[in-house]
Amino acid sequence: MTSPPSVTGADVVVVGGGLIGSATAWRLRQAGLDVVVVTGERAAAASHVAAGMLAPVTETTFTEQSLLRLNQASLDLYADFAAEVSAASDRPAGLRQVSTLSVALDADDGAKLGVFAEFLTRTGHHTQRLTSRECKQHEPLLAPSIRSGLLVEQDWSCDNRLLWAALIEAGRRAGVREVAGFVHGVRSRADQVTGVELADGTTLPADHVVLANGSWAGQLTGIPALPVRPVKGQILRLDPGRLPGPSLTVRAFSRGSEIYLVPRESGREVVVGATVEELGFDHRVTAGGVYELLRDARQVLPMTAEYALSETSVGWRPGTPDNAPLLGGGGLTGLTLATGHYRNGVLLTPVTADVTARFVTTGELDEVARPFTLDRFAAAGQAVR
Ligand code: GLY
Repeated sequence: MTSPPSVTGADVVVVGGGLIGSATAWRLRQAGLDVVVVTGERAAAASHVAAGMLAPVTETTFTEQSLLRLNQASLDLYADFAAEVSAASDRPAGLRQVSTLSVALDADDGAKLGVFAEFLTRTGHHTQRLTSRECKQHEPLLAPSIRSGLLVEQDWSCDNRLLWAALIEAGRRAGVREVAGFVHGVRSRADQVTGVELADGTTLPADHVVLANGSWAGQLTGIPALPVRPVKGQILRLDPGRLPGPSLTVRAFSRGSEIYLVPRESGREVVVGATVEELGFDHRVTAGGVYELLRDARQVLPMTAEYALSETSVGWRPGTPDNAPLLGGGGLTGLTLATGHYRNGVLLTPVTADVTARFVTTGELDEVARPFTLDRFAAAGQAVR
């Protein structure tokens, strides 16, 4: 049940009721703390809009080895996490342990996939280079023009909307309380957090505050502004109806931008994403954005042109100066960060929840999370504003 804003204070207030806020609140409650989540607007959350790729390998770049380790740590938790959420909520958690296939549309893309495969092998990841013919054996709906591919068996997907609903239910059953409002600022006295102030002026006292409000984390009063910016993504949902849908998640580069198609287990939805636009909180679905996504999707999987366009949406990835998360302490005693997950929020939900709950309860930050503290920006001269 959602509580009115007159809800009393708690041991911990979690700011943001997306996947990361919901999972963290649930873990904190399991640790015996009294937890209130201030949900924000759930329909606008990245957790609602995202495609749900669990792709530590195919979302990585050559420069992101610490992030690759964190991503991999979270994927390693996923199967148990999803089973636990499902059991605690009596709902499906949406995990789909099916491979991802990155395909090359031309010879240059093929060469890039080859270099990427070598990098992955060096960093201990198993991938498989496929010929054009082998790609089509794995995914018969691919365009005949596909040149080659890279199969990553361990890059899975999760229906983020199912997982999110299950997590909220698991939290409610465990006793997590909710406030359907917005946090305006963090309150503190002598560098110790004392709670939060809601947009309507209500205060919620708490000794600990966890910031899990994604792209909105940079807008709070009472603390130095965090280096978090919204990175707009337009994304589509297609319904194959009676037509066959793809079975694998398929990714490609087309005209310099990336396209991905993520099928759901039901066969009733294929998520096609996504634009990457540095336009702040621009909420417009544009004709050009939709056109380019549909054009590129058709180039990879021609049959998508026959599917119904069932949803267009816009979300905002919480980006940071290095587009890696912000974890651990937030510069005040009792303030903990769990934001800045950029393109990896769904994937990083289990590890973030575990690491954050342990940090709040013990003051210790797990080794895997240490490269992601706020002070890395101060050290690099990108001080928090
Ligand atoms: N993780 C996919 C995206 O951000 O578009």
